[in-house]
Amino acid sequence: MEIIEHIDRNKLPQHVAIIMDGNGRWAKKQGLFRAAGHKKGTQGVKQAVEGCAELGIPYLTLYAFSTENWNRPKKEIDILMNLLVSSLKKELKTLQENDVALHTIGNTDTLPKKAQKELKEVIEKTKTNKRLRVTLALSYGGREEILKTLQEISIKVKNNIISPSEIDESLINRHLYTHDMPDVDLLIRTSGEQRVSNFLLWQIAYAEFYFTSVLWPDFKKEHLHDAIYNYQKRERRFGKTSEQIK
Ligand code: FPP
Repeated sequence: MEIIEHIDRNKLPQHVAIIMDGNGRWAKKQGLFRAAGHKKGTQGVKQAVEGCAELGIPYLTLYAFSTENWNRPKKEIDILMNLLVSSLKKELKTLQENDVALHTIGNTDTLPKKAQKELKEVIEKTKTNKRLRVTLALSYGGREEILKTLQEISIKVKNNIISPSEIDESLINRHLYTHDMPDVDLLIRTSGEQRVSNFLLWQIAYAEFYFTSVLWPDFKKEHLHDAIYNYQKRERRFGKTSEQIK
């Protein structure tokens, strides 16, 4: 029996976040340039999106480009941005046919104009789609997001719009890029690295972590199924005792 048949459809994670890692190492192993790894990485993106849509997971967030990734060689940044633009053009029809909405989080104003334009168009055209929301984290950093939130709230306090005692978790949530999304239930990272790398720092407070040695270009739906099956075997206690949650 395949793993998917063991997945309990009533206990699915509502929000899956993925740190897609290992494109460069995949390319090196094949004796190819890093660009080839990124190109093949788009197939991993397709597998993850299709896998979540088929199961009925409503939110998938992918770490596509971090604030730290701006430190990579310009040539590689250009390759990643061009790949983003060409993938958006190529996949719009599939997103529409499958009722998938595209969103972004991050400081997207810093992306090349061409990428901003293409993103705006796909987001606009898919905004009423309901089955799955795919969010691309682009020029995203968790600390930057928290800083932005602090600045926005400070201005409201300074202008007497809110008082310091009104600052609570729900107010902070409302100022994050993810204000209209649930917290992350399951965080997956590929390529054997076991780090969070500044991804969704606030939103992963109670997330389950799943690490796999699979390199991102090799990621298939079956790997997503493995992660979800593993997630469902865990007991999420949110600080309570095992007896309390039975
Ligand atoms: C990590 O591999 C991956 C990235 C920095 C970017 C993810 C990009 C893609 C999957 C390609 C296209 C994406 C979209 C949304 C069109 P790495 O380069 O860090 O690998 P390494 O650690 O082995 O060097």
